Amino acid sequence: MNYIEQLPDSARRDQISTLHKEKQDWITQQKKGFLRYRTPCEILQAFPAEHVDCTDDTVVIGDPAEITPQEQKQIISALEGFIPWRKGPFSIFGTEIDTEWQSQRKWKRLLPKLPELKGKIVADIGCSNGYYMFRMTPYRPDLVIGLEPSIQHYYCFKGLNAMARQDNLHIDLLGVEHLPLFPECFDVLFLMGIIYHRSSPVDTLRDVFTSLAGGGTLILESQAIPGDPPTALFPEKTYAKVPGTYFVPTGSCLQNWLRRAGFSDIELFCQHPMSSIEQRRTDWMQFESYSDFIDPDNPQKTVEGYPAPHRVFIIARKK
Ligand SMILES: C[S@@+](CC[C@H](N)C(=O)[O-])C[C@H]1O[C@@H](n2cnc3c(N)ncnc32)[C@H](O)[C@@H]1O
Repeated sequence: MNYIEQLPDSARRDQISTLHKEKQDWITQQKKGFLRYRTPCEILQAFPAEHVDCTDDTVVIGDPAEITPQEQKQIISALEGFIPWRKGPFSIFGTEIDTEWQSQRKWKRLLPKLPELKGKIVADIGCSNGYYMFRMTPYRPDLVIGLEPSIQHYYCFKGLNAMARQDNLHIDLLGVEHLPLFPECFDVLFLMGIIYHRSSPVDTLRDVFTSLAGGGTLILESQAIPGDPPTALFPEKTYAKVPGTYFVPTGSCLQNWLRRAGFSDIELFCQHPMSSIEQRRTDWMQFESYSDFIDPDNPQKTVEGYPAPHRVFIIARKK
């Protein structure tokens, strides 16, 4: 079933449907850039899995006993089509995908504050390949919508979920900027790894606030700089080599943004320095990673000389 029909009446269904259709028409063109990811996705769609387990660190889709050695080769080749793999780990019919990020570490940090998901409508904004969406399924949400504008991540999730067949998970090629089409829609919204990429972070948080239903909960995770004053770093060009990074706040600055956007019951429940244990080069992601972003002579600084990143986790509510 199309997720749009399952949204509350407050959703701007007509506009979402129009956009959804426009995006689908756009990516179904026979262009090389689209085919590069569509083809592996279509190959994976031929392998619905019997055994699926999203309860542990590695999301397991399929058991090796379910396929022939020939089919396994086909699956591995399709999975390689999605390199670089950023979020995971996954195990696909016995193929272990060691992703750049050890995403289970982030999931474990937020678990103590995970809101009730059972029967809820949930959004994961910037959901990447859906690792966290899969991790939500044991908590039995009614509907999880991942907004993700990257075609690579979109098709990767589509391929994974064609095998995993979790009917309550959906992805659309939309971004955080489309949240105004979803007023009062979500019981729980995850905004992780996004806010420092926004040039107007408080406006984004206002849009998030509007998209939450009354009593809804936001789980916000962000890169941050260490320190107590409510300030934000604004890098000249890149931060830790990442372009498109605007404001990197301290934890208290981020809490002030949330207050000004209308949130209540704001609690920063975890803060930790980033490290190459959590983000590193692997066989499935062979480009530069965390250790290349940090000053080799001073791990407290990025290569640009800015304070090295922390990560903060905040829970906040809409009354
Ligand atoms: C740093 S990653 C974070 C991924 C994941 N949420 C996590 O916490 O591990 C940022 C993600 O946001 C996606 N993204 C890029 N532009 C976006 C936009 N305008 N709205 C929502 N997501 C966006 C990227 O494709 C990428 O998957």
